[in-house]
Amino acid sequence: MDRPEHVSVLLREVVAILRPELGGVYVDATVGLGGHAEALLAASDEVRVVGIDRDPEALAHARRRLERFGDRFVPVEGRHEEIAAHLERLGLREVAGVLADLGVSSMQLDDPSRGFSFRREGPLDMRMGGGGETAADLVATLEEYELARIFREYGEERMAGRIARAIVTSRRTAPILTTTQFRDVVISATGRRREEKIDPATRVFQALRIATNRELEDLERFLDDAISRLALGARLTVLAYHSLEDRIVKQTFVRQATSCTCPPSFPACVCSRRRVMALVTRRPIRPSLTELRENPRSRSARMRAVERLEKDLPTPSPER
Ligand SMILES: C[S@@+](CC[C@H](N)C(=O)[O-])C[C@H]1O[C@@H](n2cnc3c(N)ncnc32)[C@H](O)[C@@H]1O
Repeated sequence: MDRPEHVSVLLREVVAILRPELGGVYVDATVGLGGHAEALLAASDEVRVVGIDRDPEALAHARRRLERFGDRFVPVEGRHEEIAAHLERLGLREVAGVLADLGVSSMQLDDPSRGFSFRREGPLDMRMGGGGETAADLVATLEEYELARIFREYGEERMAGRIARAIVTSRRTAPILTTTQFRDVVISATGRRREEKIDPATRVFQALRIATNRELEDLERFLDDAISRLALGARLTVLAYHSLEDRIVKQTFVRQATSCTCPPSFPACVCSRRRVMALVTRRPIRPSLTELRENPRSRSARMRAVERLEKDLPTPSPER
């Protein structure tokens, strides 16, 4: 089995933020082909990595790639939003750091049978792991307004309504089952030219992928649960590739790094909330020009990180 290509994004920056030289158990919550995990494991013999991925194929590649680290690498097939249950099963209460490199890997994008790319003919599948509805199922069954919402919200697509209408009209004649069929409907609805630099169907494909895999719904739960498992001084770092994803990461981190939440009109604090996390990055870290040249797929990446300061929020004082 050849190792498919996937260039890990912001690799040096991830290692610098997570400080594997301190040792301990790290969680790579989206281990993919294991590039980031490999860098963490290679940095210190004192590091162990729990690598989670919902895609069994990706996990099989990571397992092979990281074989030389023996039992310092622990693969887990599952979803990152179930991180608390995965750690529970492994008997781990706290970890030294967590990484999530969201989205899809190049291996998934480039395999036509997975249906992520409009560049090659394939089934309109787009599921990252087995089970659940495919993208073709959503295209066949969602109401026009739901399709339009997905394209507008997740794809920031100006012609969302027009595209949704074209899909509903087209599926009355024949089901839309392949990537190229779907792309053709999108292109004919928008009238956009094919030879533009960014393919006119890019945003709509991304939106459909996000909806198929419930990528945004599950992110907040993952972030809160990952933070709750960090040891003192441990960090969580997240690489997002979509503005909505990045907004969820930013808002969650700011909320966790905020102390008193009483309205400014209160003369004194009554919530007794202490700050439990500190922002490690005030602004997102982005790929350098060199990285962008070498790996254009890194262009939308934004990395943010937080660090645990205190163990628990104090219990609010009882009402009098
Ligand atoms: C960008 S790739 C990770 C690449 C990896 N950092 C590397 O260097 O090789 C993202 C991975 O996250 C996985 N993934 C996406 N959503 C997930 C979820 N909710 N739970 C677990 N894995 C997920 C995908 O299957 C994919 O393999």
